[in-house]
Amino acid sequence: MTKTLLLLPGDGIGPEVTAVARRVAGRLITGGLALAVEEASFGGASIDAHGVPLTDDTLTRAKAADAVLMGAVGGPQWAGQPYDKRPEAGLLGLRAGMNVYANLRPARCFSALADASSLKRVYVDGLDILFVRELTGGVYFGEPRGVETLADGQRRGVNTHVYTTSEIHRVARIAFALARTRKGEVVSAEKGNVMEAGLMWREDVQALRDAEYPDIKLSHMLADNMAMQLVKNPRQFDLILTDNLFGDILSDEAAMLTGSLGMLPSAAIGDPGKPGLYEPIHGSAPDIAGRGVANPCASVLSLAMALRYSLGAPELADKVEAAVEAALDKGARTPDLGGTMTTTAMGDAILAGL
Ligand code: NAD
Ligand code: IPM
Ligand code: MN
Repeated sequence: MTKTLLLLPGDGIGPEVTAVARRVAGRLITGGLALAVEEASFGGASIDAHGVPLTDDTLTRAKAADAVLMGAVGGPQWAGQPYDKRPEAGLLGLRAGMNVYANLRPARCFSALADASSLKRVYVDGLDILFVRELTGGVYFGEPRGVETLADGQRRGVNTHVYTTSEIHRVARIAFALARTRKGEVVSAEKGNVMEAGLMWREDVQALRDAEYPDIKLSHMLADNMAMQLVKNPRQFDLILTDNLFGDILSDEAAMLTGSLGMLPSAAIGDPGKPGLYEPIHGSAPDIAGRGVANPCASVLSLAMALRYSLGAPELADKVEAAVEAALDKGARTPDLGGTMTTTAMGDAILAGL
């Protein structure tokens, strides 16, 4: 049966990197993959066209697809808008609307790129960390939220960090199941020393492990210490489980260990059988947008994750990942990796390995 991949190119470098992933998908289709590729408007582009970052039509099509591949959203031209009219609000709405509560962010350092990292090769060569970031809860979604003006004229801004046991358990189950396919080890991060909800996260993760995953080695680390340990000795980690906000921050940090933010893909998944949302972890990179120099690897590797987790083609996922690695081995580099290649030329180098 033909599966559907919905592309949401979005803003800034989003369309530039998504175009490369689309070419890779096209090559796989020519090779026999039964896939229909569609496109919809999203983010700032959707604000300009329809007045909102996520239309009902785009959300309906995303939920009906087998997988969604998003580029990036955001940019200075929409930054002055009210909060709910900003491109980023569309992304939060899409994640919540698709109920993709577990965000898998693999930080792998390809050997060819170990010298592109800001850490020495000895610390990052062979690095392979899987972040499992909770994606539809925590401070990103908690109520109350907003900014009010007090009687004395000063403003009061509020966001609420909130989790329930079931929200913690469903993402932790995905982390424990993935750990069984890796080293059987999970490190969970929170700030249980200052946050009640952080301590509850720790207790709930531990209780689930004790009840259902006794074979998994679980340890807990305070998130600030983890930020330090990630640059001190990153290879001590195999799988990191954490909440929405810490997962956002720590995965950007880990991206630099792999050479560039332009290398990290992600997969957002929910309940079995539901479509996944695939996206590079980087943003719209307004500083380089429109120049044709963005690194498309994260987008292509996100397509690989879609093939693996939503499109029933894990062997093609392996092939796409191998093609990216082969291109890097041959010296293909965009400027963020210390090279001079354009986005399109990098795409050509990846396609050459397919
Ligand atoms: P960013 O990730 O867009 O850029 C950070 C730095 O990394 C920039 O110097 C950029 O040039 C570089 N970079 C990022 N991706 C790259 C790539 N593929 N190739 C080469 N260099 C790359 O983060 P930012 O500048 O803080 O945010 C810009 C906008 O993107 C904001 O509006 C933000 O909200 C949004 N954003 C969106 C997403 C998303 O759509 N998933 C993620 C992060 C940020
Ligand atoms: C990411 C981004 C998003 C996040 C923003 C754009 C909403 O930084 O995907 O990492 O914070 O989740
Ligand atoms: Mn981020």
